[in-house]
Amino acid sequence: MTPPQRKLRSTEWFGNADKNGFMHRSWMKNQGIPDHAFDGRPIIGICNTWSELTPCNAHLRKLAEHVKRGIYEAGGFPVEFPVFSNGESNLRPTAMLTRNLASMDVEEAIRGNPIDAVVLLAGCDKTTPALLMGAASCDIPAIVVTGGPMLNGKLENKDIGSGTAVWQLHESLKAGAIDLHQFLAAEGGMSRSAGSCNTMGTASTMACMAEALGTSLPHNAAIPAVDARRYVLAHMSGQRIVGMAHEQLTLSKILTRAAFENAIRTNAAIGGSTNAVIHLKAIAGRIGVPLDLEDWTRIGRGTPTLVDLQPSGRFLMEAFYYAGGLPAVLRRLGENHLLPHPEALTVNGKTLWDNVRQAPQYDDEVIRPLSQPLVADGGICILRGNLAPRGAVLKPSAASPELLRHRGRAVVFENLEHYKERIVDDSLDIDASCVMVMKNCGPKGYPGMAEVGNMGLPPKLLRQGVKDMVRISDARMSGTAYGTVVLHVAPEAAAGGPLAAVRDGDFIELDCARGRLHLDISAAELAARLAAPNASDRGGHGGYQRLYVDHVLQADEGCDFDFLVGCRGAAVPRHSH
Ligand code: FES
Ligand code: MG
Repeated sequence: MTPPQRKLRSTEWFGNADKNGFMHRSWMKNQGIPDHAFDGRPIIGICNTWSELTPCNAHLRKLAEHVKRGIYEAGGFPVEFPVFSNGESNLRPTAMLTRNLASMDVEEAIRGNPIDAVVLLAGCDKTTPALLMGAASCDIPAIVVTGGPMLNGKLENKDIGSGTAVWQLHESLKAGAIDLHQFLAAEGGMSRSAGSCNTMGTASTMACMAEALGTSLPHNAAIPAVDARRYVLAHMSGQRIVGMAHEQLTLSKILTRAAFENAIRTNAAIGGSTNAVIHLKAIAGRIGVPLDLEDWTRIGRGTPTLVDLQPSGRFLMEAFYYAGGLPAVLRRLGENHLLPHPEALTVNGKTLWDNVRQAPQYDDEVIRPLSQPLVADGGICILRGNLAPRGAVLKPSAASPELLRHRGRAVVFENLEHYKERIVDDSLDIDASCVMVMKNCGPKGYPGMAEVGNMGLPPKLLRQGVKDMVRISDARMSGTAYGTVVLHVAPEAAAGGPLAAVRDGDFIELDCARGRLHLDISAAELAARLAAPNASDRGGHGGYQRLYVDHVLQADEGCDFDFLVGCRGAAVPRHSH
C-alpha cells in the first residue's frame, strides 16, 4: 500500500477515538468489517446505478464485484452505494427529467459520506452524465466505468442495432413493407445480452466522451458488456482509483477546457449523439469550464467522421471494439494533428496521447482512415436565426445531404399528442417538401425535453417511398435515431421562444453550411405573434416536476438546474450527532 500523502477526508469519520468515531465505525462493523478497514486507508465509493428497471445497467452489481477486487488489491476499502438509476427504455415522461435529480443524489451521497474517491458505475444514456455532474460538483478523485454495450442484435441472420432497428422497422411496418409478426420478432434478438445500446447512440457516445475526457481507462467505452475484458477493466479501474485517492488526482485536474475540446472533436470523429452537446455543457458547468455552442462549430465542424457505426453508418459496438475501439480513433486523430490537446491528463496519470499513440488499428472499414471518412465534414451543426436565437443542433452524418439546405412549408404540431393525432390523418395537407414542426417538447414544455424530435414521417408519404423530411422541434432525439432533424431549438416554445409563433403554411429555411434557421415572416409579425399567449403544456406540475420546470436551464446551457451549476467541493460537513 502506498503511504498516504495527505489526510484523507474519511479519517474525519473513522480516524477519531471519540464518540463520533465510535459511532461511524461501530455501525459499519455490523457488515463484518474488520478494524484494519479503518486504519486510514482510502475509502472508495462505488456509485452504482444498478437497477432492474434500467436493463442496460442491470449487470452493474457483478461489475462492482470486480471493481472491489481491484480496490482491495491496491489497499483501499470499497463501499458500494446505490443512486437513482434513470433508464432510458422504461422511464416516463423521459429519463432526461431525472438526470439532474440523479446528479444531486450523487453529489450529496459523496459529500455527506466518508468517501475519499469514487468509481462511477454507469451505462445507460443519462446515468453517465448524471454521475459525472454530481462527482464534478464535489471535485474528488473519480473514475468512470461503464457497463459496456450489448452484443450485436440479430434478426434473421442479420445484425440489427439497438434503437436504430426500432425506428427502421417501425417505418417499414407503417409503409406496409413488413407485417406485425416480423416487427415483433425483432424484440428478443435486438437485446440479447447484458449491456447498453450497441449502436453509437447516446450511451456509447457518453462512454466515448468519458474516455476522451480522460475520466476512464483506455478502452472503457467499447469493450462489450459480457466480454471478460470488461471485468478486467473494472478490476484495473478499482486498482487505479486507490492511487488516485493517494495522489489527490481530482476531477478538476482532468476535466479541463482542453479535455472538453478533445471530447468535442472526438464526438465528430465517432458520429456521436446530439445529446452530447447538452451533457458536456452540463458537466463543464459543474466544474467551472466555459463551453458554448459555437465551440461545437469551431472544434467539431470540418472533422471527418471515421467510425462507421449505426445510426450514421453500418456497424455496431462489438465491431468497434474489435477494430481497436476509441484508442484507435484517437490515435488516428492525433497522427493527423486533429487531437486538439494530446497533452491532456487522464485518470491513469498519463496523457491522452501517451495512452493511444501505439493503439492497434485492426479494421479500416469500421474505423476508417482519414483518406476515406464516412462523412467528410462530421460533427454537430449549430444553427441560429430568428427561429432559434439561442441555437439549435442537427447531426449532418445522420441526415440526408440533399436536405441540409432546404426551404419548405411548415406543418405545425402544438405538442406530441397533436402530432400523433394529425400524422395518421391521410387528409393532412403535407408532402415531402414540407417542414414538420413540433412545439412544447423542450425542457420546461414536456417537461424534461423528451427524445421525440425524430417525428416519424406521415404514413401516406412512407407508402409513397419518402425516406426523410426536415423536422424541427425543441425536443431531443435518441442518439440511435437518424434523419434531417433540427433539435434543441432554444429558447423552447414553452419559454416564449419563437418556435411558439410558427403557423401552418409559414415558410422555413434551413441552411446547415451557413448555420441558419429562419422563419420567413417579418420581425414585426413575429413579435406580434409572440405577444399572444402560447397554449403550452406547462403548468399543473407538483413535486420534483415543479422544481424541474422552475429551475431547468435551456438546452444551450445544458439543461442543468440554475442552482446546481458550479463546483461546491467536498469539504467535510458538520457532525451529525
Ligand atoms: Fe439504455 Fe440505450 S436504452 S443505453
Ligand atoms: Mg437514448
